[in-house]
Amino acid sequence: MSFENFIACIEMQREVWQFSDLDITPLRSFVITRNNGGFTLGAFAENDGRLLGFAHALAAFDDQRQAFYYSQMLAVAPELHNSGIGMALKLAQRQRAVERGIPLMVWTFDPLQSRNAHLNIIKLGGVVRTYKVNYYGRYSTSTLHRGLDTDRLLVEWWVSSPRVNAIATSGKIENPPNPIATVEVPFDIEQIKERNLEEACAWQLKIRNAFEQHLAAGLYCAGFVRGTAEQPSQYLFYEDQEQL
Ligand SMILES: CC(C)(COP(=O)(O)OP(=O)(O)OC[C@H]1O[C@@H](n2cnc3c(N)ncnc32)[C@H](O)[C@@H]1OP(=O)(O)O)[C@@H](O)C(=O)NCCC(=O)NCCS
Repeated sequence: MSFENFIACIEMQREVWQFSDLDITPLRSFVITRNNGGFTLGAFAENDGRLLGFAHALAAFDDQRQAFYYSQMLAVAPELHNSGIGMALKLAQRQRAVERGIPLMVWTFDPLQSRNAHLNIIKLGGVVRTYKVNYYGRYSTSTLHRGLDTDRLLVEWWVSSPRVNAIATSGKIENPPNPIATVEVPFDIEQIKERNLEEACAWQLKIRNAFEQHLAAGLYCAGFVRGTAEQPSQYLFYEDQEQL
């Protein structure tokens, strides 16, 4: 990506997350990432070349020095949400990981966000085995957080697994049969946050407790049922880890 495109990514962070400048990933971080094994991919308009979305991934390694990618940001211009650009950016990230022989990409998302869960688990085939309580503390300047704890699910995306390979050819996964447990999440948490912050907090605590209980029992999340305005969505939990 060019410097100009990195600047466009900075503008998009402001627009998508409504961060103050303190929380914005700056130009120098994009450059450092590019020069040290990470990469940033953009989606661009065909007519005028403007940035429509971007995905930014860092090079990382675990305690055994196994390399993986940490996908730090995925953002799409708000007026273009739900038109497949996020999915296309993730598939381009996957292609890069496969080409480089990196088997795993991870990232976090807010468990209260049904759309992100649908994208990460059903459209991309990610699985969740880790719940992070108040991951960034309460210091975020994003208006999207509205004073809630910044709880996060850690998505593991095993890019060459049969599960993820199937997605690359057929578009999305079918939920595996016979979940052992389910956890409900509102279809539209933003509406609840606007209406009643206490209700949003109660949802957060309920989902946190349920995830902690199921993960501690050795279950993992590998399924998701998208709800409707009237019906909450659901995370699905399984016992054996054959979806990894
Ligand atoms: C998350 C984000 C990058 C997704 O990009 P996108 O281009 O909208 O994603 P896609 O269109 O590929 O996929 C969105 C899916 O969610 C579905 N969806 C929309 N609202 C939903 C809801 N409330 N519950 C479940 N699924 C929902 C869409 O229908 C679509 O699925 P489909 O193709 O099966 O119909 C984008 O919404 C965004 O920029 N959000 C704000 C920043 C953010 O949350 N980034 C990710 C965490 S760092």
